[in-house]
Amino acid sequence: MEADWDGIADWYAELVRGGSAMHHFSRGMLLNALPEKLLGLAVLDLGCGEGIVSRALASAGAGVLGIDPTHKLIAHAEAAERALPLGVTYRVDDGTTLATVANDSVDGVTAALSLNNIADLDAALRSIRRVLRTNGFLSFTVPHPCFDAPGSETITTSSGMRRTAGEYFAEGLWRSTHPQSVRRAGNYHRTISTYLTAVLDHGFTLRSCTDPAPSDAVRAEAPHRLGLPPFLLVSTVLI
Ligand SMILES: C[S@@+](CC[C@H](N)C(=O)[O-])C[C@H]1O[C@@H](n2cnc3c(N)ncnc32)[C@H](O)[C@@H]1O
Repeated sequence: MEADWDGIADWYAELVRGGSAMHHFSRGMLLNALPEKLLGLAVLDLGCGEGIVSRALASAGAGVLGIDPTHKLIAHAEAAERALPLGVTYRVDDGTTLATVANDSVDGVTAALSLNNIADLDAALRSIRRVLRTNGFLSFTVPHPCFDAPGSETITTSSGMRRTAGEYFAEGLWRSTHPQSVRRAGNYHRTISTYLTAVLDHGFTLRSCTDPAPSDAVRAEAPHRLGLPPFLLVSTVLI
């Protein structure tokens, strides 16, 4: 049977809470791209999962709403909020509609590794635009499209583990066959230019597009990432 997000939710929450270097790295690069002062800002964390980014935003002083369609992940996020209250509100909602989020109600949107789980990127960007106030930010990370394309894999060579590139131009849904991959639940691959063109077409102004080198912790956890950026970060503002 094919995996889905509800099916891998407990595994994913455990992975993230077990101290996954990749997830700490993704969270850190996303937070670095946000305004220095988050105190008092209303931030929507789209595809919040078990809440790793939502908690960090709240700890930095933002008023945070985390939404995710995966009931089990919202349950994990709410359990963490009960255990250590930070004032985060979590709701089951879909990033393509944001049905529970009012128009012009947030100062910023973060989407950590979630837009690549959404089939209809245009619908998500329309909804984000609807809920964002003028001068609001949208910052998101996705698995690096060059090195996590369909068919990309990790191989062992005489000089160690290496990542093969895969089919960069094969946009659309693919599933990893690796039993420990997040992408066994499905991943919508898009090229870098598709992401950038989409945000520009939806009226966002590009602030930065970066793909930082892996940290020592990421390299230790995932030696095949040596010399490759694990994630792409896109930072925009709605003027
Ligand atoms: C790789 S996880 C990232 C979770 C969290 N942001 C993090 O950094 O750990 C991808 C998330 O996208 C969510 N997702 C899947 N479909 C979605 C949709 N239509 N709208 C919003 N989120 C979605 C999944 O439920 C999952 O929580």
